[in-house]
Amino acid sequence: MAVLLKLLLDLFSTALTDNLVSKVKVELAEQSYNIDIAANLLNSDSSRQLLPQSKQYAIISNQKVAELYLESVKKILPEQSSLTVCLIPDSETSKSPEQYLRLMDILLKENFNRSSTIIALGGGVVGDLAGFVAATLHRGCNLVQIPTSLLAQVDSSVGGKTAINHQTGKNLIGCFYQPKAVVIDPATLKTLDQRQFAAGMAEVIKYAFIQDDTFLQWLEDNAPAIKAFDMPILAEMISHCCKIKALVVSADEKETGQRVLLNFGHTFGHAIENVSGYGKWLHGEAVSVGMLMASKLAVDNQLMDEQYLKRLHSLLSYFDLPLSISTDFSSVELISLMYRDKKNLNQKLQLVLPRRPGLSELVVWRDESALISLLIEFGAGK
Ligand SMILES: NC(=O)c1ccc[n+]([C@@H]2O[C@H](COP(=O)([O-])OP(=O)(O)OC[C@H]3O[C@@H](n4cnc5c(N)ncnc54)[C@H](O)[C@@H]3O)[C@@H](O)[C@H]2O)c1
Repeated sequence: MAVLLKLLLDLFSTALTDNLVSKVKVELAEQSYNIDIAANLLNSDSSRQLLPQSKQYAIISNQKVAELYLESVKKILPEQSSLTVCLIPDSETSKSPEQYLRLMDILLKENFNRSSTIIALGGGVVGDLAGFVAATLHRGCNLVQIPTSLLAQVDSSVGGKTAINHQTGKNLIGCFYQPKAVVIDPATLKTLDQRQFAAGMAEVIKYAFIQDDTFLQWLEDNAPAIKAFDMPILAEMISHCCKIKALVVSADEKETGQRVLLNFGHTFGHAIENVSGYGKWLHGEAVSVGMLMASKLAVDNQLMDEQYLKRLHSLLSYFDLPLSISTDFSSVELISLMYRDKKNLNQKLQLVLPRRPGLSELVVWRDESALISLLIEFGAGK
């Protein structure tokens, strides 16, 4: 079924890739790399030049994504190279020590070494796990990210965060490890589930809101074209997000300063994901409500003008993202989880609060009763 869908999409696809490639550079001295973005890039011969030259390649993916895009990626590998394909179950639970060791076993038995290349083909789950494998195999081999979900294209494939989960929490085992290249084909989004696409849009809206007023206006103007999967517009949107992320990462690779602002809505969001049980709410869905909560707090405390909250609300609502939670969520439990968020050192709750599009700040928040009222206003129980 998935293969048939892919064939139909290829037939209807008319974009001429080569002229439309947008290139974003992540500046990190000798670890700098390019992000190439264009519709149908995976079906273009020119994408072969984007990969590091190796004798051995491994593609890490899952069954669903492999059925759709593995053949295209195989065609852009150098002819004389060998290929090992490793498929992982399509689930967040694949970011596990067991899957990590299984992949290591396969690659070490195949004699992969530092000059081999691992290609992550899939969403953020594949990207994070494959990234961690590449980072630690012989202390680091070449990594290429070919993200296929919107979240991975605008966020997780850029910046070098790699991780697996531990039974005590998400992303607790990992490191920063930059890829050699990121190759983004927005045409892959046509096969992505609508709910997953919307969840990725929450991250796009986040970028627009925290980093760039012009981009927010652009998103509002182009929202119908984005919903209609207009390829040049999607490519432009992804490219803009990657530029923002690249700038932030270049300035603060290890998240000791400015990069933390990318967590707008995430302290609330992580708590919502956690209380609901991971998997019920998608990350982007939780971030959607989280951004509204942080913005409402900013408005209530005269940090931000209400018109910006209204603009955020209408964009999130246009992309069918959740705008509230329910009484199943206990506000006391949410707050205790927010304190456990990784940004919060020494029992101080730190929140990214917006002042206006393009300007936000990290604030130490002490007024717990205001937080409880806010959560109840968004539908939470006591
Ligand atoms: N490294 C980072 O900086 C970073 C940032 C944000 C999130 N993450 C991580 O990313 C993960 C979430 O990523 P995600 O939202 O991409 O989830 P995901 O990887 O689970 O992908 C979502 C679903 O879409 C499917 N899919 C992906 N591309 C597809 C396509 N083109 N067509 C059809 N189906 C497709 C996947 O198989 C999966 O079922 C989490 O583990 C999170 O911790 C990492």
